[in-house]
Amino acid sequence: MDLADRRGLETDVYQPAEDSQLLADAACRRIDDGLVLEVGTGSGYVADRIATETDARVIASDVNPHACRQARERGLEAVRADLVSPFVDDAFDAVAFNPPYLPTEEDAEWDDWMERALSGGESGREVIDPFLAAVGRVLAPGGVVYLLVSSLTGVDEVVERAGEEGFSAVAVADESFPFETLTVLELVR
Ligand SMILES: C[S@@+](CC[C@H](N)C(=O)[O-])C[C@H]1O[C@@H](n2cnc3c(N)ncnc32)[C@H](O)[C@@H]1O
Repeated sequence: MDLADRRGLETDVYQPAEDSQLLADAACRRIDDGLVLEVGTGSGYVADRIATETDARVIASDVNPHACRQARERGLEAVRADLVSPFVDDAFDAVAFNPPYLPTEEDAEWDDWMERALSGGESGREVIDPFLAAVGRVLAPGGVVYLLVSSLTGVDEVVERAGEEGFSAVAVADESFPFETLTVLELVR
């Protein structure tokens, strides 16, 4: 890897933060085994924790090619993908996602990888909503989704949207910070 590639990994890939840790902790507590997909893996931290701390086989995916490379460097199986588009129906026992969720101005720069890691568009839910519409297709019967949401994004709105897609939601972890509360929702059909 040359210097430019290395810089790309450092500046273009979301590095683990409190949200990553909350999602990894919850997923590792609740997953035993099976086939697990982490959507939007970033550095691969969450996928790596699940692969290491459970008996699951984990596939990591991200729309950002720098993230896929960083996840592969940690030894993960990583696939470049927009949400769940390339995966076959009924494939996964669990899907985890720490999505971009910060509400941002209309003129946000979507051609910047870090912006794509953070920005949920004007509502904060512009990646979450299509994820909720698509994820049911790739879940095996009895499959579970672990979705990180923030009070900035609107937890009630996400729960309502998940309900419209046929999921019931339970909060399985939360943590409060000065400017937001983070919650991990467990979604089942
Ligand atoms: C908040 S970061 C989370 C990264 C990592 N999972 C973690 O918790 O540290 C969101 C990630 O979602 C990815 N992402 C954004 N839009 C996506 C899409 N449409 N499909 C797949 N990944 C996406 C971003 O590239 C970024 O890596």
